[in-house]
Amino acid sequence: MPIKSRIRTIPDYPKKGIMFRDITTLLKDPVGFRLVIDQISQHYLEHGINFDMIVGMEARGFILGGALSYTLGKGFIPIRKPGKLPGEVIDQEYQLEYGTDKVEMHTDALEKGTRVLLVDDLLATGGTAMAGAQLVEKVGGIISDMAFIVNLPDIGGQKKLEDKGYKLFCLTEFEGE
Ligand code: PRP
Ligand code: MG
Repeated sequence: MPIKSRIRTIPDYPKKGIMFRDITTLLKDPVGFRLVIDQISQHYLEHGINFDMIVGMEARGFILGGALSYTLGKGFIPIRKPGKLPGEVIDQEYQLEYGTDKVEMHTDALEKGTRVLLVDDLLATGGTAMAGAQLVEKVGGIISDMAFIVNLPDIGGQKKLEDKGYKLFCLTEFEGE
């Protein structure tokens, strides 16, 4: 498992009982990072899944999104934490364990009907990806697919997104461990 084995697990971070899946150990290894980008790129090239743009979720989704935009020859659109984008924005709230958070996208980032690959490093509750998809759809874009390095299916994000009809591609998962 060349990708999974390069992901480090830090127990009890950010709080007791949480197993933090840390991709910094995967990304700092040039072989690991290349495998991530090559495997996701190959998946989309081989399966003929069509999209026009890549949308990445700040912050860790940018690492993936920038490289994939390059390999797949698509433009990159950032979805950012509040107050970072200079133009007119729309925002979307999403649930955290305690309280809510918000992400923003430029209102003119996408043309209506643009097909989007949404990317992020990790899928847990699915709140972040769902908020990203809602922003894309608010401006008339279409989510063609979503790509993640790590899926944590026990937390329920995969089911939540699939129940809404989104298609996902995840390179690896941690389940029951
Ligand atoms: C992390 C991770 C995903 C999200 C997954 O981001 O990078 O974006 O949580 O969790 P979810 O599926 O429950 O929404 P986080 O906002 O913690 O910080 P980041 O800025 O480092 O990406
Ligand atoms: Mg994130």
